[in-house]
Formats: sequence, C-alpha cells, structure tokens
Amino acid sequence: MDYRAWSRNLNMHFGFYRWGMDPLALESMVEEMSRQVFRRLGLRDGMKVLDLGCGLGAPARALIRQRDVAVTAVTNVKYQVAMARKLSRGLPALGTVDWMLGDYTALGLPGGAFQAAFSIEASCHARGADKEPFVRECSRLLAPGARLVIADGFMKGRADLPLWYATMLGCMTRGWAVERFADLPAFCACLERHGFTVLAAEDISWRIAPSVAHVPRVTLEFLTEELLLHGKTLDSVQWGNVVAALLSPWIGLGRPYFGYYLVTAQKLRGQRKTAERVGRAAPRRVERPSLEGAALKLLAASRAW
Ligand SMILES: C[S@@+](CC[C@H](N)C(=O)[O-])C[C@H]1O[C@@H](n2cnc3c(N)ncnc32)[C@H](O)[C@@H]1O
Repeated sequence: MDYRAWSRNLNMHFGFYRWGMDPLALESMVEEMSRQVFRRLGLRDGMKVLDLGCGLGAPARALIRQRDVAVTAVTNVKYQVAMARKLSRGLPALGTVDWMLGDYTALGLPGGAFQAAFSIEASCHARGADKEPFVRECSRLLAPGARLVIADGFMKGRADLPLWYATMLGCMTRGWAVERFADLPAFCACLERHGFTVLAAEDISWRIAPSVAHVPRVTLEFLTEELLLHGKTLDSVQWGNVVAALLSPWIGLGRPYFGYYLVTAQKLRGQRKTAERVGRAAPRRVERPSLEGAALKLLAASRAW
C-alpha cells in the first residue's frame, strides 16, 4: 500500500487518541503516537537515539524537529533509506539524523553508544515469540540507564486461540511479512534476561482504536484511486498488505488474545554482570523471578487501564 494514502507525512503506524482530539483527524493521531513514544524516552539534549525499523523516517523527522538529539534511524529496505534521506533534506531541525541501511538484530555500531532507543511497529518483524535477536542487539547498543520504548501489537500469551481467530491472524501476519507477533510475557521476560527492567507495559488498544477505524475508508480510497482512476494493478505483496490492513480491526477486537502495547524498559546500570550471565545461559532461578516480575507489571498495567 502507498503510505501516503495513510499518512501525509508517511508515518507507517497506527495513531494514538488522546482525550479532546478529533477522532476524524487521522494524521494528528498518527503523529501523537510518535510523541507518546518520545515522552517515555527520558530525552535530554545531545543524546544519541536509535530508531529501529524507521520506515520512511516520519517519527525520526518529527523527533529532530522537536529535540536537539542525534538520531540513527535504521531500516533494512534500501528504497526507504533513499526516500527518507530525500524527504529530510533541508528540513528545519534542532537535531540530526543519520539514515542507515541495516538489520536491527546485527548492526555494526559500537556497543553502549546510545542513550535511548525506540521502535514503532517494527520489533514484530524480528524472529520468535520473545524477539530475542532484536532484544539482544538493543541491550548491546544501549548505555546503562538508557530507555527503550516499543510500540507494537502483542499476543497476550494464551495458547487457546479459536481456529477462526488463528486463521485471520495467520492471514494478517503473512500479509505484513511478520513471522508472528511477540508474546508479551515472553518479550518482557526476554528484556529482563538481557539486562533491562520493564518500567511499564501499557495496554493502549483502545487509544489506537479510532485510527484503526479509519482503515476501511483509507483502503477503499486507495483501491478506488489505484485500480479505477489510474488503471493500475496490484502485485501479491500489495494485495497481502491490503488484506492485512482490512483484518486489523477484527484482530484488535480479539481482546483476550491480542493487544497493542507501549512497552518502556530501562537498561540496568551494572549491565556487564547481567550480560555475562545471559552469555552463560542464565540459571533457572534468575529467569523465574524475571518472568513473574514481567507478568505482575503486565497485570498492573492492564488494571491501570
Ligand atoms: C510498519 S514499518 C514502521 C516504520 C516506522 N517505525 C514508522 O512508524 O513509520 C516497519 C519497519 O521495520 C523495518 N524492519 C523490519 N525488519 C527489520 C530489520 N530486521 N532491521 C531493520 N528494519 C527492519 C521495515 O523495513 C519497516 O521500515
């Protein structure tokens, strides 16, 4: 799908609805999502910040407009880097951004060099239920005390998905080239194993709902324009994207199974010891309290909501 149909500034994520906002103003909600992520990063001027899975760079561009920080924005798609560079040329900004082509699970960047990192709807593309390759690289790149904020869809860890739901979910993940969404308890436990403490796992499913409600309209407009007005055809990847987008409201309604979360974690000080422990395959007694801690935080966040 052409992301301009979804967002004027080429954001590739859902929106965040704050009380008082106009739920019909899609772009404001989409921009608000980036602001919500930035607010949780504990930013200070001069910080080096990572954007992992930057897409066409809209969140990174918004951040350097607001803050004097040095962003390294990474995507594994060449044309996105080229387009992001073009779009950011000459823009007034307080900070700077380096666009980087690379895999966020293996970046050739120095360890401990970043004071904050965020990833909006991109960590889901990493492998496994706990997204360990992604978490491990975040842990390597972040300095002690640095925050990591993730905005993404997560499974709630239930094994009893009904067949109809599992089938729709399979279509959606295939359409978006996602192996599977992370399991929230497994993801939080993985963060803790890799030297993070999970500060919050906020269920913001209802905050994104107003933007999800725009999906059928935007898809219809996109298809009308591409197929009827311009006489174009869509390839299988584009059709996969369209189907995944149309399924997203239904997947979101599966509240016992799926939620959209903002996860905020902080790299522990004294990180070296933790990294050594992980490297040696952490003993069971270290993992168990972490899992329980993650589950408790998750429960507390859901109750707060
Ligand atoms: C849904 S888009 C979100 C883009 C951006 N964060 C935004 O909100 O506008 C997901 C992004 O993750 C990137 N991505 C997926 N797997 C990646 C990987 N292994 N390394 C780097 N980027 C990756 C994709 O190329 C894409 O840019």
